[in-house]
Amino acid sequence: MTASKRIVLSSDHAAIELRQAIAAHIAALGWEAVDIGPTTTESTHYPKHGQAAARHVASGDCQFGIVLCGTGQGIMMAANKVKGIRCGVCVDTFSARMIRQHNDANMLSIGVRVVGEGLALDIVDAFLTAHFEGGRHATRVEMIEALEG
Ligand code: RB5
Repeated sequence: MTASKRIVLSSDHAAIELRQAIAAHIAALGWEAVDIGPTTTESTHYPKHGQAAARHVASGDCQFGIVLCGTGQGIMMAANKVKGIRCGVCVDTFSARMIRQHNDANMLSIGVRVVGEGLALDIVDAFLTAHFEGGRHATRVEMIEALEG
């Protein structure tokens, strides 16, 4: 299986149920959900889960990544430390569409304590159905990549 149509999912303990709901949702849409856990609600540390998911994307194993924590912020920050990752937190569908169209985001982060399941699934749909527009936006994405050194 190539990266195409594969999405890695991870979260901290706060967002396990929503992560599993998103995994089922994207599977029903025809994506392969690569859910790397965790599976228990025992308290854990979001940086390691953000990093693990990001590595699946950066290595080319998965086309996209979806990560979740309480706010979506901490796990997004961790994912963005991995070279090649562009991960944005979204609380609305407009932003989810735009981070694909303009920023060529390869990861999406959602906060389970910020949005409900219905909106979260709409955010995922907006992210997955949008396409990078290239052109002047490609120049800017290249400038982001240059910051990675
Ligand atoms: C865990 O309590 C919480 O800090 C975490 O889920 C997340 O919100 C961090 O950004």
